[in-house]
Parts: sequence; C-alpha cells; structure tokens
Amino acid sequence: MQKIEYRMFSLENKVSIITGGGSGIGKAIALLFARQGSVVYILDIDDNAIDVVEEIKGWGGQAFFNKCNVTQQGDVKNIIETIPVIDILVNNAGIAHVGTIESTTEEDLVRLFNVNVKGMYNCMHEVIPVMKRKNTGCILNMASVAAAVGLPDRFAYSMTKGAVIGMTISVAKDCLGYNIRCNSISPARVHTPFVDGYLQKNFQGREQEMFEKLSKTQPVGRFRKVSTSTPSPGARPSCVRRLPARLARSTASSAIPISTSPSAAARPSA
Ligand SMILES: NC(=O)c1ccc[n+]([C@@H]2O[C@H](COP(=O)([O-])OP(=O)(O)OC[C@H]3O[C@@H](n4cnc5c(N)ncnc54)[C@H](O)[C@@H]3O)[C@@H](O)[C@H]2O)c1
Repeated sequence: MQKIEYRMFSLENKVSIITGGGSGIGKAIALLFARQGSVVYILDIDDNAIDVVEEIKGWGGQAFFNKCNVTQQGDVKNIIETIPVIDILVNNAGIAHVGTIESTTEEDLVRLFNVNVKGMYNCMHEVIPVMKRKNTGCILNMASVAAAVGLPDRFAYSMTKGAVIGMTISVAKDCLGYNIRCNSISPARVHTPFVDGYLQKNFQGREQEMFEKLSKTQPVGRFRKVSTSTPSPGARPSCVRRLPARLARSTASSAIPISTSPSAAARPSA
C-alpha cells in the first residue's frame, strides 16, 4: 500500500461527505480531500463512484460509497444516521437543462429543482444537527456563474443555482453561532461529463463544433479542466478543486458566494 506523503494542508481526522463525488468536479474534490487525510463518504446515484472509492483505498486513503438519490429525504436521513461525526459537507450533485422559460416544462422545472435545490436542502437538513453536536463544521454548496450572469437557454438551471446562493447565505447566518461555515462556489464552464452529456444530448453529431463555440464564450477562450487523476506529490490541483480545499480549512471565512473564475462572470458561460 502506497504511503500518503503529500499534503497541501491537513484534513487529517476530518470526515467529509461529497455528493456527486463519482464524476467530474465532485470526483476531483473527493480525491483531493482524501489525499489531504480526510475520510471521504461519497453519496452518488451512480455506481461509478465505487471506482473513486477504490482509487482512494488503493493509495491508503479512507473512503466509502453510499448509493443515494439526494432528492429522497428518507434515503439521505438513513445514510447520515450511520455517520456519527461530519466535519465537511460538499453539496455538489447537480444536473443540467437547456431551455427558455417557454420551452421548459413543469416536469423539467421540478426535476431540476429536486436535484439542485431540494437535494442540497435534504443534505444540509440532515447534516447540520450532526455538526451542531460538535459545534463546528463546513458546508460548501456548488452554485454556478449561471446564477448571476444571465445565460441564454438556461432558465431552470439558472433558477436552481440562484436558489443555491440564497440557501447558502441563509444557512450561513443561522449557523454562525454554532461555528458552522457555509459557502457557495460558482464555477464557470468546466470540462466534465456534465458538459459532454449536455453536448451529446442537445447537439448530436456537432459535439466538437459546439464545444469549440462554447469555449469561445469563456473570457479565457477555453473550458477550465478538472483533473480527476489522483493528485501526485508536489502537483498543484486545478483551481476547481483548490478553492473547495481552501474553504474547507478551518480558517476560511464564511458566507461569501465565490466564483472560481471572477472574470468569467462578465460573460455568459456555464
Ligand atoms: N461542469 C461545469 O461546467 C459546471 C459549471 C458550474 C457549476 N457546475 C456544477 O458543479 C456540480 C458538478 O458538476 P460536474 O460538471 O462535475 O457534473 P457531473 O455530471 O460530471 O457529476 C455530477 C455527479 O452528480 C451525481 N448526481 C446527479 N444526480 C444525483 C442525485 N439525484 N443524487 C445523487 N447524485 C447525483 C451524478 O451521478 C454525478 O456523479 C453540479 O452541481 C454543477 O451544476 C458545473
């Protein structure tokens, strides 16, 4: 078994829950947090998360997979009840949707709301009492620049990410007295399976053309990459997972909705 020798900072003895940790940004965060010494619980609807857990265990880290649909409050409750101490919750699980207010059906709206808003509510609702028992904790909610910049054709998605920021500020205020910090992160476009799935579903046969078109809408002219490889000793993790790592440290301040790419907020992107 390989010894874990690399630490940007220590999450030793910390217990982290990462929703949607089986893919993309959540996977990158799970690998980084585990590398920093945290015990990682991945809650994901997709069994692919098992591979992430195996990878972490392979280099001597501690990780667990709980199959969970975050939209189901009872399921979330049952899982959280089995974890006696929780230091960090990363509410990352999310889904995308393309449509204007006119083309978005009621069904689409409810589906997006259930995962992106109710899913985060369910997790915070169950985790905060556990954090209160320890009188400390850190919550990171994955929002998006879509909440602030007015992206074309992203009505339901933008609505849910705006709600994430509202929930974050509310929870941050209510939990101040319990030493529980709550922040949101608003990435611009990041190249993950989330983006590939969207291109495949909406632009079949024109994926590459659309990928290049979307890249050009970014101020830097390209998607941000998320490295889902195991962070190696000395490597600098991508900004997308560096910011969650920084916020997870006990010294980070609270209640600041943050964009990983502030300049990106000037133009439509994610
Ligand atoms: N990729 C981007 O460009 C981008 C930009 C801004 C914000 N975000 C946000 O970052 C987060 C992660 O995005 P990503 O690009 O890594 O996506 P992804 O599709 O690669 O990963 C999302 C993960 O969430 C899981 N998931 C989906 N629905 C779930 C449910 N009901 N219960 C449990 N797990 C569920 C999926 O199985 C998957 O493992 C999302 O909240 C997304 O809105 C992404």
